[in-house]
Amino acid sequence: MSEAEPELAYLPVAYREHVERVLIPAADISTRLDELAAEVSEDYAGTELLLVGVLKGAIFVVADLHRRLAVPAAVDFMAVSSYGSATTSSGVVRILKDLDTEIEGRHVLVVEDIVDSGLTLDYLLKNLRSRRPATVEVLSLLTKPSRREVDLPIRYVGFEVPDVFVVGYGLDFAEHYRGLSDIVTLKPEAYGA
Ligand code: PRP
Repeated sequence: MSEAEPELAYLPVAYREHVERVLIPAADISTRLDELAAEVSEDYAGTELLLVGVLKGAIFVVADLHRRLAVPAAVDFMAVSSYGSATTSSGVVRILKDLDTEIEGRHVLVVEDIVDSGLTLDYLLKNLRSRRPATVEVLSLLTKPSRREVDLPIRYVGFEVPDVFVVGYGLDFAEHYRGLSDIVTLKPEAYGA
């Protein structure tokens, strides 16, 4: 990109030149989170939620969803390693950080930034269900249905995205780009494709 698009002016110059295009602008993410938070608040009215964010990608979704909820919610995090390559996961999952709290009898909402093959979430859901929560549901900002390898119940979905490599709003490449307000695609040369 010879000249940054106006909405990318906030980016570090080193990132700007790697951005191909804005796929989901920050304003659209915000509007969609308003809608999802309203849905969640209605569905869980009268109960108390436990948001379980999956590190690290989900940090912004957890924060921005939590601020919009009209029901009481506690927050906890899990960190998992998916033993994949830089851009795909293998389904072999190892827990790097477990929950700090017990979830038996509680209403758990797993919060993800993206569900791709679904292998990470499939493992996590089985693991969490074995702890006998009252309910477990999933909210994911993004889903890539064309890449799914396992059938998963995702109750709340922000956006369906095509099979392109996306970063921003929590999503990274080699730990970079997570702090972008928009979700963008990178030029293939930026991630070695
Ligand atoms: C991403 C994302 C999901 C997982 C989805 O995490 O946050 O947890 O991959 O892929 P899958 O559906 O194919 O299993 P990643 O392993 O990139 O870690 P990060 O959140 O720390 O960036």
